[in-house]
Amino acid sequence: MHRLQTFLSFAFIFSVLVAGTPTYTLPRCQLDQNIIPGLPSTLVNPSTKLGYVAVAIGTQNYTCNSTSSTYVNIGAVAELFDISCLYMTPALSTTFNIIQDVAIKAWEDAPSAALPKQILPTYFNVGQHYYVPNPVTGQGVNPKWDFSSSRHVTTESADGYVVAAKVTSAASPSGKQDIDWVQLKSITGTLATQVFRTDTRHGQPPASCTPGTPDIQVKYASKYCESILLQIPVF
Ligand SMILES: *[C@@H]1O[C@H](CO)[C@@H](O)[C@H](O)[C@H]1NC(C)=O
Ligand SMILES: *[C@@H]1O[C@H](CO)[C@@H](O)[C@H](O)[C@H]1NC(C)=O
Repeated sequence: MHRLQTFLSFAFIFSVLVAGTPTYTLPRCQLDQNIIPGLPSTLVNPSTKLGYVAVAIGTQNYTCNSTSSTYVNIGAVAELFDISCLYMTPALSTTFNIIQDVAIKAWEDAPSAALPKQILPTYFNVGQHYYVPNPVTGQGVNPKWDFSSSRHVTTESADGYVVAAKVTSAASPSGKQDIDWVQLKSITGTLATQVFRTDTRHGQPPASCTPGTPDIQVKYASKYCESILLQIPVF
């Protein structure tokens, strides 16, 4: 616990120190495998090597369904921080394994005015996750992972984003308080062919709601693993 607190203080102080400074090129850690640790058996490891692993800090948004008096998910907004180098460095594997716990603790403990991008160092902020109208059918909304503001994108991928559709999901192995793990496939964008939401922490709505009450945002953290077909090293 003490080490976790030290790390959190460090992450918070560091994020305050670097806030507002220009971002600069971070060497990209190339991932050389397609294994997602701890994947529930109903989800299938990607067929291509992982392109990125990111930790997400943000909110899941819900509206009250007045017929069932239960919350229905209407989207999410999160900042994505690149942790690919943690995955590929054996000495940092402990940090890789607990990063979602570090992230949710810092996010839950943050002052109410804090934004997700202020929770971990700006240096690792690789993109954003949010929902957009379905770009193929125009019906409903789909999740997007958008790295187009990132330093990686111009040289690596033409558009730097992926909009995906759910293939399958599984209850979180860490408990009912955590949102499902999800396997998705790209519908547009070249950033990834598949996306996996894993190692989820929190994000579940209350069990019931009062019809007519406002939409709610529930804090969550998770990992997102993006598998890409083509990898062009960028240094
Ligand atoms: C709201 O709840 C009703 C009853 O359970 C269900 O039929 C309907 O599909 C729900 N609407 C949404 C948007 O989930
Ligand atoms: C979700 O909530 C955030 C605030 O946390 C808001 O900025 C965003 O527009 C909401 N998105 C949807 C789809 O409701």
